[in-house]
Amino acid sequence: MISIDNLSKVFHSRDGAKVFALEDVSLTVGDNEFITIVGPSGCGKSTLLRLVSGLIQPSSGSVAIDRTIVIEPRQDTGIVFQMPVLLPWATILDNVLFPLKMLGRDVTGGIVKARHLLNMVGLGGFEQKYPRELSGGMQQRAAICRSLIHNPSVLLMDEPFGALDALTREEMALEVLRIWTEEPKTILFVTHSITEAVLLADRVVVMSPRPGRIAEIIDINLPRPRTFEIEAHHEFQKAAQRVRGLIFGNRDEQQTSS
Ligand SMILES: Nc1ncnc2c1ncn2[C@@H]1O[C@H](COP(=O)(O)OP(=O)(O)O)[C@@H](O)[C@H]1O
Ligand SMILES: [Mg+2]
Repeated sequence: MISIDNLSKVFHSRDGAKVFALEDVSLTVGDNEFITIVGPSGCGKSTLLRLVSGLIQPSSGSVAIDRTIVIEPRQDTGIVFQMPVLLPWATILDNVLFPLKMLGRDVTGGIVKARHLLNMVGLGGFEQKYPRELSGGMQQRAAICRSLIHNPSVLLMDEPFGALDALTREEMALEVLRIWTEEPKTILFVTHSITEAVLLADRVVVMSPRPGRIAEIIDINLPRPRTFEIEAHHEFQKAAQRVRGLIFGNRDEQQTSS
């Protein structure tokens, strides 16, 4: 489904210095696989997602989706950013329908689907509200609905719950799992929560900083469907410990994560 080959990205800062954001990253992601990506701040996670989304171009290497090299944003890709960037002047329903309008698709025909998605994330009845009338968590749910309206086969999520409180965050993680079960798709999900990374993933990609590389890819062989109860599972703790060790080294091996 997604083939990332020897991908590198060098940025040029204003003083002319080179920033090696990503170096020689290779990863093959299967159809409907759920991949989470963790790593310290600045290790190139967002850069990787932006490259896969086609929003920016690599310095070298390539990203291919369904054997086609990504050179611009694709219609079959959905993106969710850390902050719910909704149009303030449009209702929640119109916000969710916006991608259909952008893509020149049948907006009226999309209304049923939009209502279904909003119901699924607990926003039924909020269709005619405006973003400012909703809490941050509710806005982010609407943004997730918007990313799903055109039924993308690839969903890229860049710390989508970063701005949410811990409880909403747990709820949202389970919601994403439910959506993924109901409408299978390939997901790349960036998070700084080790617990979230292990809970959601088929495989966790752990990145190391400067230049951003893949430190290790960890298989998560836990049964599905999953809930937070799975944290007690031996396999869960082993995986979380491994991720923690890779990120913090021995220094903070015992540190707990959010
Ligand atoms: N447009 C840009 N111009 C210059 N440097 C950038 C740009 N985008 C990202 N970087 C740098 O690339 C590195 C990786 O950034 P990023 O992918 O945002 O990391 P992460 O998402 O893991 O925190 C950082 O050092 C960041 O400062
Ligand atoms: Mg980032």
